[in-house]
Amino acid sequence: MTSAARQDIRLEVGGAVAPPLERSHGVTRAEIARTLPRLAKVVPDLLGGDAASGFLRVLSRRSLLKSLVDEAARQRRRGFEDVIHIGIGGSSLGAEAIWRALAHPQHNLLPRRRRGGPRIHFIDNVDPESLGALLEWVDLKTALVHVVSKSGGTVETAAGFQIVRAALEKRVGSRWARHCVATTGQGALGKIAREEGMTILPFPEDVGGRFSGLTSSGLFTPALAGVDVTALVAGGRRMAGRMAKLSLAENPAAVAGVVAFLMAERKAKPIQVMMPYADALEPLARWFVQLSGESLGKRKGRRGVGPTPLPARGTTDQHSQVQLFVEGPADKLVSFVTTRRDRRSLTIPGEGPAGYLEGVELGRLLRAEQQGTAVALARVGRPSLCWELPEINPSALGQLLVALETQTAYQAELYGVNAYDQPGVEAGKVAAFALLGREGYENEREAVEADTPERWTI
Ligand code: PA5
Repeated sequence: MTSAARQDIRLEVGGAVAPPLERSHGVTRAEIARTLPRLAKVVPDLLGGDAASGFLRVLSRRSLLKSLVDEAARQRRRGFEDVIHIGIGGSSLGAEAIWRALAHPQHNLLPRRRRGGPRIHFIDNVDPESLGALLEWVDLKTALVHVVSKSGGTVETAAGFQIVRAALEKRVGSRWARHCVATTGQGALGKIAREEGMTILPFPEDVGGRFSGLTSSGLFTPALAGVDVTALVAGGRRMAGRMAKLSLAENPAAVAGVVAFLMAERKAKPIQVMMPYADALEPLARWFVQLSGESLGKRKGRRGVGPTPLPARGTTDQHSQVQLFVEGPADKLVSFVTTRRDRRSLTIPGEGPAGYLEGVELGRLLRAEQQGTAVALARVGRPSLCWELPEINPSALGQLLVALETQTAYQAELYGVNAYDQPGVEAGKVAAFALLGREGYENEREAVEADTPERWTI
């Protein structure tokens, strides 16, 4: 293997294949080979401009990357102590997944000198406990707000921003806008940002929220913390380049997409677990759950389609969910994420209740436990895939994000659904506006009340 290839992420498919799994639980090589040709146009379209989504094309827009990197450097020089990232769904999960994977695991607890950048806080809910507590604690005089909303009108983001803006204004007066950067489009937030003189980073029009991790939506906050986002995007570009060159049979995203689709549709495995063996990748599992759930869970004629994604974390969830995966209903495909190397090394001493671990590297134990779980699943005929990263670094993470986004696009093609809309999210929003008495939603109120289930309070 060349040293460049050693930097590539890989997909291990063996745990999902029949035989040795029974045909009712594993996919055969012939089934994979028969399905792959249906994906021939997906990546060429995504790269060439015919597709609704530009998540691969945007990787080559170097001026976009440069402007956010330059802006992050400028803001870092201003010496802020805290950054508050306000957004929800795709406008928050990518940034959090990237920050948690690539920043120091104790970033916010380190002294300033070792942190090398501001502390980072995510507000992605309208829970007064979280935002209220943050505002009690953070000194807004030394805080920067990064508010992210493609539409510019998402109610949760707007509510959070309005509260923080008012608190900022109280603390720093008319200079509040200098403490705010907005990643947004042409909607209400963009208009206010322009009028008030906030710094604006463009949210690419052709990239949807959950596919926006490698644009300023997902990159700017981690860049403020000192993450090398240029290397991250280079990793994404590397994966896009591989997918453009390789045959579909050698393309890990295509094979993962086909296996996941066949498992859900032909092998009765609609529950698809994303289980990284790394604390730093725990938010990545949540990011993937949103990516898959919102992109693939769609109405198709009279039927609803799409796998149900489930997050888990190794080894912790071996003591929680793995019992269910091994002995519960055989309705799951588990996708592991592992690393070949660790960023830190810890050797277990011999004194203590597990003397047999003397001299064993903790990372080796982590990997052995992942392999043990894969074997335990295989023994009872349960399938798994495994994404292998050389280690958790910007390049590998960029490759993985792009691979999982493209896997989702491949699955959407197989299901025949649009991965880039979310009509099902609208109904709940409209009902909430009607209940709040928002102007323009008066007619909905009666319908909402009529459709509210009769109360049965115990
Ligand atoms: O993936 C998506 O499209 C959604 O989860 C959005 O990111 C989320 O609804 C937030 O939307 P916006 O960025 O418009 O505030």
